[in-house]
Amino acid sequence: MSKLTTQSRIYIAGHRGLVGASLLRYFKDRGFTNILVRSRSQVDLTSRKDVRKFFLEEQPEYVILAAAKVGGIAANIAAPVDFLLQNLEIQNNILSACQEFGVAKTMFLGSSCIYPREAPQPMNEDCFMHGPVEPTNESYAIAKIAGIRLAQALEQQYGLNVICPMPCNVYGPGDHFDLERSHVVSALVRRFVEARRNDLPSVTLWGTGNACRELLHVDDLADACMFLLKNYDSPEIINVGSGQDLSIRKLAETIATIVEYEGKLEWDLTKPDGMPKKLLDVGRLNTLGWRHKIDLVTGIQSVVNDFEERYPL
Ligand SMILES: NC(=O)c1ccc[n+]([C@@H]2O[C@H](COP(=O)([O-])OP(=O)(O)OC[C@H]3O[C@@H](n4cnc5c(N)ncnc54)[C@H](OP(=O)(O)O)[C@@H]3O)[C@@H](O)[C@H]2O)c1
Repeated sequence: MSKLTTQSRIYIAGHRGLVGASLLRYFKDRGFTNILVRSRSQVDLTSRKDVRKFFLEEQPEYVILAAAKVGGIAANIAAPVDFLLQNLEIQNNILSACQEFGVAKTMFLGSSCIYPREAPQPMNEDCFMHGPVEPTNESYAIAKIAGIRLAQALEQQYGLNVICPMPCNVYGPGDHFDLERSHVVSALVRRFVEARRNDLPSVTLWGTGNACRELLHVDDLADACMFLLKNYDSPEIINVGSGQDLSIRKLAETIATIVEYEGKLEWDLTKPDGMPKKLLDVGRLNTLGWRHKIDLVTGIQSVVNDFEERYPL
């Protein structure tokens, strides 16, 4: 197997997304000179033909699959077919090309939503496939589960060197701020900054605020990905997270304080909370020697700065 060096040909699929853009910055900052990227208009990853042509021409040695159709609860409920089909197509095309074209090491990024809704908390890797997933993002989760199983089957049948990190909720600069696609931190930052700019007396948020979420800064995820590329060689899934969670209410209050919004917080109880709690057991990763570094307040501030820069008054 070729060793990972700064000359390795590394394909980051999804380099314009939250995670992919952070990975690209991370590798470039560390002197990697052969990073391969393609926009969707150059290579549509749902097209097997496009993907095979790209692999044939570029012969990547390392592949990080950070492209997916990703969205919040509302988008998942509105378009379950898109979440299922597009994610199956993207991962089937890329993972099978990694096997066909002899990629040295492949990373398939999953998500904590693959775990059962009722999994004991914190969720460790062994609860995978031990119960039904949360219905509000079932299509996305089922696609990710199929991707893990495909990666593992490719390792079993063809010896593909593939790893499958399962990150918790990720946030950071470069996230979407449109209300359709944004994740919880970026959505809240936008709501509170706009409320402050417009002197709104209150902000209404979905659910009870009692659901708890674990958050990891995207630059910590990029660091964990590099760590795993160097130090982990198994198709068994491995959790990546901060190992700490907080309620959406506490998160909202923290963001409101950081952006200096002084109005009221109201909760729309007719809207769903999603899973009541989602905390990963990150013991396996910690034992290997990796821990997150960016604290929540510093991390949120980086998202506020990103929003203020991209959407100035
Ligand atoms: N964000 C999180 O909280 C989180 C948590 C756990 C796991 N993950 C995993 O991390 C990965 C990346 O997530 P993310 O948050 O970075 O998502 P994202 O910001 O929505 O980025 C997804 C990327 O995939 C690309 N893409 C989607 N469909 C494509 C297609 N048909 N052809 C080519 N490119 C396509 C998008 O391209 P365009 O720019 O053209 O749209 C975008 O660059 C996903 O596998 C996700 O499951 C994310």
